[in-house]
Amino acid sequence: MQPIRFVTATLATAATAALLLPLGAAPAAADRHHGPDGRHTPPHSNAKFDRLRWAAPEDFVIGTAVAGGGHHLEQDYPDPFTSDGRYRRVLAQQFSSVSPENQMKWEYLHPERDRYDFAMADRIVDFAERNGQVVRGHTLLWHSQNPAWLEEGDFTDAELREILRDHITTVVGRYSGRIHQWDVTNEIFDEAGNLRTEDNIWLRELGPGVIADAFRWAHEADPHAELFLNDYGVEEVNAKSDAYYELSQQLLADGVPLHGFSTQAHLSLNYPFPAGLEENLRRFDDLGLATAVTEMDVRMNVPENGRPTAAQLREQADYYRQGLAACLAVEGCDSFTIWGFTDKYSWVPVFFEGEGSATVMTDDYTRKPAYHALWSTLKRAEYDRG
Ligand code: XIL
Repeated sequence: MQPIRFVTATLATAATAALLLPLGAAPAAADRHHGPDGRHTPPHSNAKFDRLRWAAPEDFVIGTAVAGGGHHLEQDYPDPFTSDGRYRRVLAQQFSSVSPENQMKWEYLHPERDRYDFAMADRIVDFAERNGQVVRGHTLLWHSQNPAWLEEGDFTDAELREILRDHITTVVGRYSGRIHQWDVTNEIFDEAGNLRTEDNIWLRELGPGVIADAFRWAHEADPHAELFLNDYGVEEVNAKSDAYYELSQQLLADGVPLHGFSTQAHLSLNYPFPAGLEENLRRFDDLGLATAVTEMDVRMNVPENGRPTAAQLREQADYYRQGLAACLAVEGCDSFTIWGFTDKYSWVPVFFEGEGSATVMTDDYTRKPAYHALWSTLKRAEYDRG
């Protein structure tokens, strides 16, 4: 192993040094062989060292959302995951974990009360297995992207409970042994740390006890999957993450099979980097929970010419670096996922007016400084852990 270590360390140092070069001065125009920062980026390379998943420490997975469904349906391109060969190639080469962006949400998996549709989710899980990737299941209990038959239906509490139990048992059971982590609940608290009892149908109709039930049903259906509480806006120690901290303690005290807490990390250059991220993950780690970053992207106000400035790209790279470094610094944080890897398919411009360029590659898969920041941060951690 020694000579290989030496080679990788040299590469890491070279990449790190390149990152530290002042990028702002006079960036070469981006073209097929040069990134927006002017650095040489081969458009297609088979070199192993050229991959995020290869740079990562052992037992640490680097993931991405798999584009499809949701906002993509309204765009003028076909389904990315099933139609874009280049997209699939980069997906397979760069990442060791995948999260269906929409394809495991209720509206896709459960289009009618008595009908499940696993076609899209199956394709992702099969793809992941063929490519030696783990899968994060997203998500089982959420207020959003539920089918109309559910949200507008007229069910008794007992029926609703049975609908949720059946869904969790069926879906988690189908992929039993093939899912690394499940976001059992998603976004169950509001900013003030109150349970979303108005817009979340399950909490509204069945009360907070349904959270523990969801975890128990999921665990029964797949005893090997790690079961997570997932949300946005919980990067820092704040009212919302405090609510999760209390809920976690309660669930653990009650013997509920809760295994992890994760933060989405949809960040923006319009706000400072959430400096408390590591501290916050660590307090959940101290409870004995796994932690994860599950949906990181870093959006920015896109200048009128459509091209981010070198300073914006540099700042974005620094956010990605800090987000990944915070996770790497916490022992039980062994899964870090970005919400898409190319701007071509990012949800950001559709949901945040005037903002964009949030992922680590441009529309044509040119690597941004953020990509290199992830690579060298992984590589350094791999070397340090040696
Ligand atoms: C987003 C998808 O990226 C879009 O395609 C879809 O239209 C809406 O949902 N938090 C989550 C994700 O947990 O499921 C959301 O994904 C982004 C915010």
